[in-house]
Amino acid sequence: MKNTMTKPVILTGLRANNDLHIGNYFGAMLPIIDMAKTRSADYQVNMFIPDLHSFTTPIDHSELQGQIMNNAKLYAAAGLPLDNDNIHLYRQSYVPAHSELTWILDCFTGFGQMSRMTQFKEKRQKVEEPVILLSQNGEPLTTEDGEEIDLNPNIASLGLFNYPVLMAADILLYGAKYVPVGDDQTQHLEFARDIAGRMNHRFGELFTIPEPVKKQHEFFGKDQGLRIMDLVDPTKKMSKSDATGKGVIFLGDDPSIAAKKVMSATTDDKASVRYDPTNQPGISNLLDILALLRGKPVQEVAAAFEGLERYGDFKKIVADELSQFLTGFQVRLTNIDSQALLAKLATSESTMNKQANATLLGVQQAVGLRPRN
Ligand code: ADP
Ligand code: TRP
Repeated sequence: MKNTMTKPVILTGLRANNDLHIGNYFGAMLPIIDMAKTRSADYQVNMFIPDLHSFTTPIDHSELQGQIMNNAKLYAAAGLPLDNDNIHLYRQSYVPAHSELTWILDCFTGFGQMSRMTQFKEKRQKVEEPVILLSQNGEPLTTEDGEEIDLNPNIASLGLFNYPVLMAADILLYGAKYVPVGDDQTQHLEFARDIAGRMNHRFGELFTIPEPVKKQHEFFGKDQGLRIMDLVDPTKKMSKSDATGKGVIFLGDDPSIAAKKVMSATTDDKASVRYDPTNQPGISNLLDILALLRGKPVQEVAAAFEGLERYGDFKKIVADELSQFLTGFQVRLTNIDSQALLAKLATSESTMNKQANATLLGVQQAVGLRPRN
């Protein structure tokens, strides 16, 4: 069962939505695409859109279908090759084995273990955060029983609770050895190893166990620590959760608005364009951005500005190159050949169904749902 895939598998779930910013792009998306390109000669690379995961917290369902397709398009526009047969791009829900294996694994997963998952605890708190109805003088209004009135209708779902089990199924169906994920997902990866080990121990060799996190880091090279900072407050990272959006450059930003955000980025009074993140975080962040746009080392990019005192001139260069990049990216995005993209998804999904079903059958046989041959 463990060897239905002919090459070792690298697998990752690509969460991308409409509000990706240049931090996500340079810090997550490009490295993943680069990895896929460089490793695909020796590995099967599975890149999938975790659409079943996308409503573990409440969303607007009228937008989901559009977001899934946009998600795939973003990766294509960022350079993911669609003509590489070793790279599979697929939607999770188009491979029903993911849901089915999840149920089976659920029945071998402890309630307590899931309750301790950090992401569950954090997201649950966010989803359920009370919105208390206040009276005109700012006091909470209460019901006749003296209970405060919570206007937030959301409760954390079983799907949110179950999130790590579905993620384990995503990984184990293909016997993935390497799974590049951010630090916030390592607990889930450890769970995938744990459940795989326990199932193998009980039923024989059903699953390939993914490499431990340390080995993953050795394989991929630990995150280079790249952090694009907020343009307004360059001491905190650029993040989509920023309420004003003034310090964040989104991939969908109008290029002229993005240029304005750069022109009004916070700097300092040192009148010297130098790469010194501690003492000149704003200028250094702009240098980082420029270096990423040019694909050159930041020191080299910074050296060219030595002696330049006028920040306006420097910002203008960054603003121009950034808006050129955004214009180009947005054109590429609208020009993505939807037919070619759909064809890629269909081909990958067909292959993935075969691989996933073979693993699933082994599990079904082991637990007694199917006769053994
Ligand atoms: P956000 O903070 O915008 O919600 P996420 O936490 O969803 O971003 O991160 C998605 C991916 O993008 C992660 O791999 C993360 O490391 C990367 N990333 C997020 N923000 C930045 C940033 N400012 N600079 C570099 N990479 C980032
Ligand atoms: N949970 C991952 C995230 O939030 C996405 C994901 C779902 C994933 N299934 C996966 C990543 C399987 C790696 C492997 O980013």
